[in-house]
Amino acid sequence: MRAIQFTQYGGPEVLTLVADALEPTAGPGQVRIRVHATAVNPFDYKVRSGMMAAGEELTHAVVLGLEAAGVVDQVGEGVTGVSVEDAVFGLGSATYADNAVLRAWAPKPEGMSFAEAAGLAVAGETALRVLGLLALEPGQVLLVHGAAGGVGQGIVALGVAAGLRVIGTASEVNHDLLRELGVEPVAYGEGMVSRVDHLTHDVSGIVDVAGTQMAELLAIAGAPANIVTIANYAARDAGVRFSGGGGNVQRALTRVAELAAEGKIAVRVAQAFDLTEAAAAHRLSESRRASGKIVLTVT
Ligand SMILES: NC(=O)c1ccc[n+]([C@@H]2O[C@H](COP(=O)([O-])OP(=O)(O)OC[C@H]3O[C@@H](n4cnc5c(N)ncnc54)[C@H](OP(=O)(O)O)[C@@H]3O)[C@@H](O)[C@H]2O)c1
Repeated sequence: MRAIQFTQYGGPEVLTLVADALEPTAGPGQVRIRVHATAVNPFDYKVRSGMMAAGEELTHAVVLGLEAAGVVDQVGEGVTGVSVEDAVFGLGSATYADNAVLRAWAPKPEGMSFAEAAGLAVAGETALRVLGLLALEPGQVLLVHGAAGGVGQGIVALGVAAGLRVIGTASEVNHDLLRELGVEPVAYGEGMVSRVDHLTHDVSGIVDVAGTQMAELLAIAGAPANIVTIANYAARDAGVRFSGGGGNVQRALTRVAELAAEGKIAVRVAQAFDLTEAAAAHRLSESRRASGKIVLTVT
């Protein structure tokens, strides 16, 4: 099968298309899919660049990819409720390939393309997790810092659907997009605190997706307990909760599929590339300018 792999850490150019990658097999509790589309996440370029390698040399070929949508072609031992030929989306590994194994999945929502569904798992699961930690009540004010990106859009969608008043930080160019999502946009950068103050003095919870401006977010939130970050590990030193995963992801994806079917969550595809253009997709991801998910189309 085809796959995008790399054998040394480096820039996007280390990503190489190979035609003879080994097909994975669905183990117990897993399914294998024919990948129709896979999403590119910031985690992928962090791994590819060696940022997560702690100085260790790479000794084997790596195929990236955390999430995908496609059609089930193999069902692992002990798996029930899903059959060969079912269209699903979910979380797995090595999804930049013709075939990939998923460890958690849900039915692809009707009316959603494979490209749209490919980016739903990470954004949806993360959104459910962080909003669960904040546990806000309808009518309360949620600030999402970095609202226009892939995960940001998932969080604001669920926040709006839950009846929260949602403020989102983004570049000016994305303010109309946020308004369309029911979000009050605010520019990040210098002066962010006073711009938020202009809208409200009553922010009950903040999700930091951008990983920047923690001092300003603390000033807005009033207390570190009102902030959850998914992108600033060091903020734990200030008493801010960092969320990096956990919980029952299978249950979370089932819920994400239900919410998507009800029209309560969708993440815009910022740009779709062919699988063979993975390097270009990584360049866009690293620019941190994509307003939505970056997707690789596989079949
Ligand atoms: N811990 C977890 O569980 C978890 C899960 C998923 C993702 N993450 C992490 O969360 C981060 C975001 O992921 P993502 O997929 O949403 O990324 P993404 O789609 O690449 O984010 C791009 C967005 O970031 C915004 N942005 C860039 N610089 C910013 C800044 N200085 N302040 C505010 N916003 C800024 C941009 O907004 P504008 O274009 O409007 O400027 C753009 O819309 C990444 O670091 C990722 O690794 C963590």
